[in-house]
Amino acid sequence: MSTRIAVFTAGGDAPGLNAVIRAVTRTAILKHGWEVYGIRDGLDGVLLDRPNGVEQLTLERVTDILPYGGTILGTVNKMDPRLYVREGGRVIVQEWAKKRLLEWVEQNSIRGIVAIGGDGTMNISYQLFEAGVPIVGVPKTIDNDLLGTDQTFGFDSAIDVATDALDRLRTTAKSLKRVMILEVMGRNAGWIALHAGIAGGAHVILIPEIPFRLEAVCQALHHRWKRGSQYALVVVAEAAHPVGGEPIYHEIGGTRRLGGVGEWLARRIHAECGYEARALVLGHLQRGGSPSAFDRILATQYGVAAVGCVAEGTFGVIVGLRGDRIQTVPMADVVGRQKLVAPDHPLVKTGRDLGISFGDEPV
Ligand code: F6P
Repeated sequence: MSTRIAVFTAGGDAPGLNAVIRAVTRTAILKHGWEVYGIRDGLDGVLLDRPNGVEQLTLERVTDILPYGGTILGTVNKMDPRLYVREGGRVIVQEWAKKRLLEWVEQNSIRGIVAIGGDGTMNISYQLFEAGVPIVGVPKTIDNDLLGTDQTFGFDSAIDVATDALDRLRTTAKSLKRVMILEVMGRNAGWIALHAGIAGGAHVILIPEIPFRLEAVCQALHHRWKRGSQYALVVVAEAAHPVGGEPIYHEIGGTRRLGGVGEWLARRIHAECGYEARALVLGHLQRGGSPSAFDRILATQYGVAAVGCVAEGTFGVIVGLRGDRIQTVPMADVVGRQKLVAPDHPLVKTGRDLGISFGDEPV
């Protein structure tokens, strides 16, 4: 039986990627006595035949990387047209690329590949699995929008950053009697806004799953001012939008990216509610830096579990958290679907009970 395993990171970075790489490497070497190979920049290192596109990962190479953000293997979140094509919104791996990876796996006697990434990576990994590549997925994203796990790693660290930002915005908001708006990431999901909003004591939380009405936001602010608290904290998810409206995008280098709703909201609150407002886009601060203790533990558990899957020959699955257990879920059950915040999610209810406005109904 082969004693070689490979690992790669793909998609946007998230705190904890290095913790998974370390856990995979240590478990493979120390528990099983295998060799570990890191593919650089997603699968580009192999598929584009890059010089030094694959490196052997040793215990020395992964020493000390646990607390560091980013990924020592590099990552890509732009689909290279040589490798992938878009068909009806879905990314399809080119046939030659599947064959090339399979050939590499066979030539190098790789017994399994650990793919660390978000929904895009899981979609690609599932296609590779169907083509015969022995692959196991590890769910990463600050957005927490992957099915098959209670939580993705990276999410907890992002909430910490957003909560800290709210704590800092509170003192400036209070001093100047302003509405401070924090725009957070999350793509089409409001998980970061919801959790950080509760943790940071926000007064208004706007998420894409609950379209808002400006009148309801103004009413919540008036209510607060009348009660004597003349400042407010608003957390808005980047894809949040008014009832009947659309999320706001901007274009960077030919690609459409979510962003701008915070600034839009600041202007509208100023014009229509009559309060001075300022917006802060938290942006990539949510993705950079050291993982939280929770994310380090989760990422480590995922890495160890993924190697366990390779050892027992379980492929085409992702490892995930269910309660306090790590379980596996078939990739087929999770790809192409997103985990969104249900409007009646218990944390939304908690927020409403606390008097937080979600911008949809009077508080
Ligand atoms: O999926 C992670 C994420 O940070 C989203 O929250 C955000 O919309 C997007 O990636 C930003 O992507 P980029 O780094 O390519 O601008």
